[in-house]
Amino acid sequence: MSNEKGKTQNATHATNMIPIYIMGKRYDVPEGLTIMKAMEYAGYQFIRGCGCRGGICGACGTVYRKPGDYKIYTALACQTAVEANMYLTQIPFYPAHHVSGNYQETTEAPEEIHKRYPELFRCVACNACTKICPMDVEVMDAISYVKQGNIEKAAHTSFECIQCGLCTSRCFAEMPQYHILQLARRIYGGRIAPKAKHNAAAVKTIADGKFEAKMQEVMKMNTDELKKAYTEREIEPETAGEDWRPEDVRFLL
Ligand code: SF4
Ligand code: SF4
Ligand code: FES
Repeated sequence: MSNEKGKTQNATHATNMIPIYIMGKRYDVPEGLTIMKAMEYAGYQFIRGCGCRGGICGACGTVYRKPGDYKIYTALACQTAVEANMYLTQIPFYPAHHVSGNYQETTEAPEEIHKRYPELFRCVACNACTKICPMDVEVMDAISYVKQGNIEKAAHTSFECIQCGLCTSRCFAEMPQYHILQLARRIYGGRIAPKAKHNAAAVKTIADGKFEAKMQEVMKMNTDELKKAYTEREIEPETAGEDWRPEDVRFLL
């Protein structure tokens, strides 16, 4: 009986196949798949170019074109459904100038960024970075705020950046916008934003050793004991309200 029902459902929901072109080669894939799943359907295995599958990590930046359209489009492969005849490739990594440093010694002065990334001042205001951003970050505006010395506005404007690097791939000034803006957010978070009192209290609780004994206990467990502890842990129910608390409250901050 269940087989018959299954047959009916399959007949009702026959999959529509559409052509897409991955790095110039045609594949027919089921309509409705994300670009990432369609690539896997076509036989690609992701070792790089895939991370979270949830639109957060920035590993799956993709560029594509549509027939008869001069525009170049961008997308996150894990978040965007395939369209018939899209012509695509992934750019999971783009080489970018990066200046590492000791952020503990970094002050809130805008010159901290200016001296590390003087190429900032080569911006020609073409806005290509903003147009390509799959997260709709106003990239050029954020870069302008850095140039003006307004780190707070640069940090807020670039808050949605997921470090995919596509903006850098388009920049006339050859600048690494995403590294520059990440530094702005780090300086803002570490030096400019007001400190959260509850966060400071939590750090002090940890420093005072509240979790030390439990950590030592966990570190002595073997693999089986760790697996058992993990699978038997108390999990917040999906339907839990804001006031949900675990039965064991010893480790709540
Ligand atoms: S600002 Fe650049 S690196 Fe960040 S999400 Fe947009 S295109 Fe990607
Ligand atoms: S792509 Fe480069 S040069 Fe063009 S606006 Fe963006 S930062 Fe400036
Ligand atoms: S896999 Fe992380 S954003 Fe797509």
